[in-house]
Amino acid sequence: MRTVLRKLAGFTQKDQQILAQVDPKHLPRHIAVIMDGNGRWAKHRHMPRVAGHRSGVEAVRSTVETAARIGVPWLTLYAFSVENWKRRPKSEVSFLMKLLKVYLEKEVPTLNKNNIRLDYIGRVHELPEDVQEKMQWAKDVTGANTGMTLTLALNYGARSELADAFNSIVAAAAQNGGLEHLRREKIDEDTISRHLYTSRQPDPDLVIRTSGEMRLSNFLLWQLAYAEIYVTETLWPDFRGKHLLEAIADFQKRERRFGGLGQTHES
Ligand code: FPP
Repeated sequence: MRTVLRKLAGFTQKDQQILAQVDPKHLPRHIAVIMDGNGRWAKHRHMPRVAGHRSGVEAVRSTVETAARIGVPWLTLYAFSVENWKRRPKSEVSFLMKLLKVYLEKEVPTLNKNNIRLDYIGRVHELPEDVQEKMQWAKDVTGANTGMTLTLALNYGARSELADAFNSIVAAAAQNGGLEHLRREKIDEDTISRHLYTSRQPDPDLVIRTSGEMRLSNFLLWQLAYAEIYVTETLWPDFRGKHLLEAIADFQKRERRFGGLGQTHES
């Protein structure tokens, strides 16, 4: 793994030291990232906010490539929330939509080269039709890849996901014995998980948030129940593969208890 990573762009002597701290046998199975700080990055440079989003694409590329090459099986990026859609100026939203289309057009060959399968979560049916078409195309042409699954959360909100899941449970019950049957069967945690957008994914082990904010911002609230949280001051456009490795090295030092007592308390 180390030889592969040495070849990745931008790896200096110091980066090698970070890499040496990562245990390739204990990688998180699923990493979720809240990409934040694009606006502040641009503001510091007296540039328009959209310049931060444009530079954020470079961070996406580096993070995706590093995660795939070291063998992380699942990576989910929070690209666009349901709130972003409603609360940002129309011009910024349409810039983000254009950026997504260009990213998909340009990146698909690299995704294929790195054996990455693309997927999406969120109310994607509410996105502009041309964007949905490009998304479907990118998903189809990467669909046979067997390496990492890259999930883009687009027009995503955890509360709307839960509302969609409950509606889907009721709709499925209507097809299968009605609500009386559902009441007898009982809705348990497994039923809810099976009706989430993420039904085919393991829950994230690690969630990374950039730009120092200590919030989950309506991201994967159900799925992050036991995830380790890593917050870095680095603004998203400055985030690179080496920062991902730092987060993984930090994750590997944590003792995960899942509500139990953990090793330090057992005797
Ligand atoms: C948060 O920064 C970032 C976003 C709302 C958009 C994320 C988009 C990208 C990283 C680029 C495109 C992504 C893909 C997958 C092609 P912010 O604008 O909220 O920053 P601020 O908090 O500093 O204002």
